[in-house]
Parts: sequence; C-alpha cells; structure tokens
Amino acid sequence: MQIGIIAPGRDVSEWSRALRQSSGIEVQVWPHMKEPQKVELAIAWNPPLGILAEFRNLKLISSLGAGVDHIIRDNGLPDVPVVRIVDEMLSQDMSNYILMAVLNHQRKTFFHYENQKKRTWDHIKSLNKAFHIGILGLGVLGKAVSQSLVACGFNVLGYSKSQKRIKGVQCFYGDLGFSTLMAQIDVLVNLLPLTAETRNILGMPTFKMARKPIFLINVARGGHLVEADLLQALDQGLVSGACLDVFNEEPLPAHSPLWEHKNIIITPHIASVTNPNVVVAQILDNFDRVKRGITLNNQIDRNKGY
Ligand code: NDP
Ligand code: OXD
Repeated sequence: MQIGIIAPGRDVSEWSRALRQSSGIEVQVWPHMKEPQKVELAIAWNPPLGILAEFRNLKLISSLGAGVDHIIRDNGLPDVPVVRIVDEMLSQDMSNYILMAVLNHQRKTFFHYENQKKRTWDHIKSLNKAFHIGILGLGVLGKAVSQSLVACGFNVLGYSKSQKRIKGVQCFYGDLGFSTLMAQIDVLVNLLPLTAETRNILGMPTFKMARKPIFLINVARGGHLVEADLLQALDQGLVSGACLDVFNEEPLPAHSPLWEHKNIIITPHIASVTNPNVVVAQILDNFDRVKRGITLNNQIDRNKGY
C-alpha cells in the first residue's frame, strides 16, 4: 500500500513529508511514480484527465483542498469515494480574507493609499454604514464567512441550493431568492462550488439584477466568472470594482486585461490555503475508514458535483 500525490505544477514536498511522518507509508509523487499499482490513496489537485484511472488498486481520492471540481471533471474517474478538506483554519482564513476585501472596499483603502503617495488630504465621505453583503453558497465556508461578517455588524444575505437558517443572515434559495438577494446588495461574495449549474453565474444576466453598482469578490473558481462580462459591467457601472482570487487560467496570464484594470484587485489564489501539517490526519483517518468499511467524513456527492 502506498500514497500517491498528483498535483501538477505544485510544490508538494511539505505534503509528502507530512504524510510520511504521520503514516509511515511510502509516498509517490506524480509523474515520478515507479509503482502506480501500489497506490491505494490518491491526493489530488487538478490531476491530468484519465490519470486516476491508471491506479488499478485505488481505494480513495482526496482533494488537496475544499473544492473538488478539478477532480470530478474527469469522466474516466475510477469508482471510488472522493473526499475533500474541511478545516476550521481554512474557514477562518477565508473569513478573514473576505473581511479584508469588504473593509478595503468600504473604507476605500486603495483610494487613500494613492492619495498618500501624492500627499493629498482628501477627506471624502467614505463610509457606507448600511452595506448589504450577499454571499453565494452557504456551505462550510459561506456559513463561516457570513457569521464573521454578521459579528462585525454587516447586513448579510445568503443564497444556497436548499433552504438554510443561519442566525443574523437573511437566507434565500431558488430563482426568486437569487433575484431578491441581488436587488438588495452592495457587495457580492462568491463561495459556490463550480458545477454545471453554477458555471458562468457571475455574468451579465446576474450583474443586471443588481439595483446599485456592486463590488464583486470572487474566491470560489474562475469558471464562475465571465471575465469579458465583468469588464463590460465595470465599463457600464453595473459593477463598481472587484477583488478576484481565482481565475479561469491560473497563473493569470500576463496579457490578461484584468491585471491593469484600475478597479480590480488581484490576489494569486491565496484566500485560504490548506495546511498539509494540519489536514493529513483527516485524510489518513478517511483512508482508515475506507479500509474498515465505515462512513467517511466530507465525502462529496459526485452527482451533485460538490
Ligand atoms: P460546500 O460544498 O460546503 O458548500 C457549497 C454551498 O454552495 C452549499 O451551501 C450549496 O447549497 C451551495 N450550492 C451549490 N450549488 C448551488 C446552486 N446551484 N445554487 C445555489 N447554491 C448552490 O463548499 P465550501 O463552502 O467548502 O467551498 C466552496 C468553494 O470555495 C469550493 O468549492 C472552492 O471552489 C472554493 N474555495 C476557494 C479557496 C480559495 O483559496 N480561493 C479555498 C477553499 C475553497 P446546499 O447547502 O443547499 O447544498
Ligand atoms: C480549495 C482552494 O478548493 O484552495 O481548497 O481553492
């Protein structure tokens, strides 16, 4: 029995070390695998299509993070359970990132920073205290983010597939719920999983539902956003600005017009990064559960796509 890590383009040395230390099991890293037939647990991030089917004795696939879109996009995926990471630190980091993005927008941090460079004292009325923040996705991360924003005194609205009850949050679902939320908000935060239903959800039809210019924070996946529509919506004043952490193509290509837009803030997919030293225990526990034939934690539903 061995563990395989398949995460092209990522430095996984810390993962290998943490897995070896915690389990004592041999770890092979793709593409340098001598004995793929020995891999029973695959830990993957964006694995090449078809590669997981090559591990003939695979028993479990774990995402290296919270999202699984990059794994289940593979139509040839072997018929083994897929689990993902759920971790308190991941939720806290995401909550802090969103709080930072909301506060930077509300307090006009970058405007003041530009003025500082010019030694300009422009004491504009900058504080919109009645801010309404809409969160798409009220799962593990969306719920944590919404609760942290409520604790900071913001008006928070949330949207999910099924009905939810979260203290202090106005929760919506369904088409009517979506348009009702969109009509009330100043800031839109995307924390949906990327599925066939949610792909391109951040496009012109959504932006046009807003009653006032919205500030967009996309931390979920680049595939949710129609980049050309965002640029058009910024031109038309439907969107006032955006903070983007995820992109269709990562790293974001140097020629992308998003880089130089004055109202776009870009971060390189760092909103909330899994700490291997913290989460290997839950991955190994799930592998143990597979072997014992008991219920797994954080298993995803392949039909739903998350
Ligand atoms: P969860 O699976 O816990 O939550 C998903 C939420 O989205 C649920 O509330 C679900 O509704 C809702 N949802 C799914 N499909 C729809 C739909 N069609 N319409 C309305 N609501 C829908 O995911 P997490 O909160 O753990 O993570 C969300 C995403 O965040 C990940 O998939 C990943 O892409 C991204 N992420 C980004 C990171 C970064 O650093 N940028 C770090 C970690 C994650 P219901 O509850 O009713 O099923
Ligand atoms: C994740 C991510 O899904 O970092 O964990 O995007």
